[in-house]
Amino acid sequence: APLTGRNTFRVPVRAQLLAEVRQVSALEELFSFPMLRDGPVLVLGEGSNLLLVADVPGVVVSLAMHGITILESDDTSALVRAEAGVSWNDFVQYTLGHGLAGLENLSLIPGTVGAAPIQNIGAYGVEVAEFIETVEAFDRVHLALERLGRGQCRFGYRDSLFKQEAGRWVVTAVEFRLPRHAEPRLAYAGIREELAAMDVGQPRPSQVAEAVIRLRTRKLPNPALIGNAGSFFKNPVVSQHTAERLAAENPTLPVFPSGSAGQAKLSAAWLIEACGWKGHRDGDAGISDQHALVLVNHGHASGRELLALARKVAASVSARFGIELEPEPRIIGADPDARWS
Ligand code: EPU
Repeated sequence: APLTGRNTFRVPVRAQLLAEVRQVSALEELFSFPMLRDGPVLVLGEGSNLLLVADVPGVVVSLAMHGITILESDDTSALVRAEAGVSWNDFVQYTLGHGLAGLENLSLIPGTVGAAPIQNIGAYGVEVAEFIETVEAFDRVHLALERLGRGQCRFGYRDSLFKQEAGRWVVTAVEFRLPRHAEPRLAYAGIREELAAMDVGQPRPSQVAEAVIRLRTRKLPNPALIGNAGSFFKNPVVSQHTAERLAAENPTLPVFPSGSAGQAKLSAAWLIEACGWKGHRDGDAGISDQHALVLVNHGHASGRELLALARKVAASVSARFGIELEPEPRIIGADPDARWS
């Protein structure tokens, strides 16, 4: 089965077999088939957070369960459940349309609800984890559906149990606790300016969403127009000491709090741009001229070519700054002996 239309890099690879799952009840039987029980399986949402480097040797499972349900609702909050196949941005819009706050800063992130907890999607000062009450996931080891509370999900910056134990868990649905009223989160650079340009003083959540949508539309290449998977590298978390030394040598380097004491997060985009990669092209593989953190496919780049460019970028950042960049999307099918496999 061709996967070109199922990954936002639009890399033309194929899977041996594609199974589209419409009902969660089918998972136990599906994962009991020897080919899935013993062989490689790739679970796919919208394919917006992976780089496919080679044909997929086993089965690709595409989750096509849709549906949003309000499980509980009162004056202060609501508990909302969405099935894994729901498009993330549709879900955000749904919650805003029902008077619920919390997810507005996460507007326009590509991908599905099922993918959101796996890499703990985050943007503009908010991570999805803080609004997740329960993740429902199929456990391939025990062939059973499990419900995991937020505390069990080991959420971190672009990280979770589901990423740490990749191959074991298939997220089938997520339940979110969303407040009806919450202080808007506007500290992240650019949001206040955007709201001011919109002439909004005391923004409602839907107006914050609008500001985020404008910012993202301007700053990030649209995967519908040019193949990409958002940020290709994570912002590196380093010791406070290293951050201070680098900031002293490079006064314009942005340094952000990392959330844990003694550590700081650096802007990977800045490091990459400083090494001269912004807008660079090797054939059809490129670094976006809009945002240095985004690897792009200008047309017919293969997964291998995209990966080769990403490795060159990381090697040059390492040589100049001594910082090792880690890829943010999943890389599927790379040489297992190489880095980032
Ligand atoms: N910058 C550059 N060159 C560039 C772009 C940015 O030097 O080409 C510097 C600027 O100084 C800018 C700073 O980097 O102020 C931060 O840029 P931006 O606000 O775009 O955020 P980011 O740190 O590059 C992260 C997330 C994005 C998320 C934005 C907004 C990661 C890996 N990326 O990017 O998430 O949208 O913050 O919150 O944490 C994604 O994960 O796919 C993604 C797009």
